Amino acid sequence: MSTDSKIPSVTLNNGVAMPQLGFGVWQVPDDEAEKAVATALEAGYRSIDTAAIYENERGTGKALAASGIPREELFVTTKLWNSDQGYDSALRAFDASLERLGLDEVDLYLIHWPTPAKNAYVDSYRALEKILGEGRAKAIGVSNFLPEHLERLTAETGVVPAVNQIELHPQLAQAESRALHAELGIATEAWSPLGSGRGLLEVPAIVAVARKHGRSPAQVVLRWHLQTGNVVIPKSVTPSRIRENVDVFDFELDAEDMAAIAALDEGRRLGPNPAEFNAGA
Ligand SMILES: NC(=O)c1ccc[n+]([C@@H]2O[C@H](COP(=O)([O-])OP(=O)(O)OC[C@H]3O[C@@H](n4cnc5c(N)ncnc54)[C@H](OP(=O)(O)O)[C@@H]3O)[C@@H](O)[C@H]2O)c1
Repeated sequence: MSTDSKIPSVTLNNGVAMPQLGFGVWQVPDDEAEKAVATALEAGYRSIDTAAIYENERGTGKALAASGIPREELFVTTKLWNSDQGYDSALRAFDASLERLGLDEVDLYLIHWPTPAKNAYVDSYRALEKILGEGRAKAIGVSNFLPEHLERLTAETGVVPAVNQIELHPQLAQAESRALHAELGIATEAWSPLGSGRGLLEVPAIVAVARKHGRSPAQVVLRWHLQTGNVVIPKSVTPSRIRENVDVFDFELDAEDMAAIAALDEGRRLGPNPAEFNAGA
């Protein structure tokens, strides 16, 4: 990262530095992704979270190339889709992602979902270990892995995942997963950190904390994540929001604010339960 960036990094379990705040591009069509990622890079984001299934790796890659930002200052994550799980198919899928991104390597490669019906995440992860060994991913990890999946993975493979990217926001605070991640040395990355545009930002307790600080509800929720220790990847296609979401490093929530937001946890999933999600199996 450039030295003047305000975005702090977390150090992953293999020593790689990852920006604590990045930009997510789920549900952004390829042609719009180019524009949104360009806006994000201009606003100061350096970490971009895409996935093969988002079908916007090409647009993302074009924006990265056009930015002129040195490759070593960027942090690019992509993910292995469920239908490509398996050792050989994961290696092929990774090559295809690199080709679409126009990159020689990614910073982080994740297994997108455990996809239990396929029973292939251990073999898939062995492919990721090979990719890591070749230096074509600086770090490898998983997404949507429940404690049971992490326990099997760490028992049967050699590299502890650097990251588990899971649904996490104030209404789904994921205490059990976060505790296991801390024990195993896995960074917790929050997806749908703002509640994916489905009402979280209008919850009165969040609005009250936002008013108290003269900031937006989204900024307050992002501060809660950062102060909790989560890596966070808010998505927006709206330039003013893209800028607003990275402008969160000049204020702090106090213990009372943090407690008011923590009280909203109700174990409420917006997305599927990973134990049952087998799309593409
Ligand atoms: N691993 C996984 O399985 C998985 C699953 C889901 C998501 N993810 C990752 O996590 C990223 C973020 O999750 P997400 O896209 O579900 O949702 P999110 O970041 O929680 O929320 C995005 C929604 O909030 C709106 N928004 C953004 N900033 C705002 C602001 N400052 N004020 C008001 N509204 C705002 C956006 O609207 P506009 O865009 O219209 O501005 C959009 O509707 C994804 O893009 C993806 O990279 C991963």
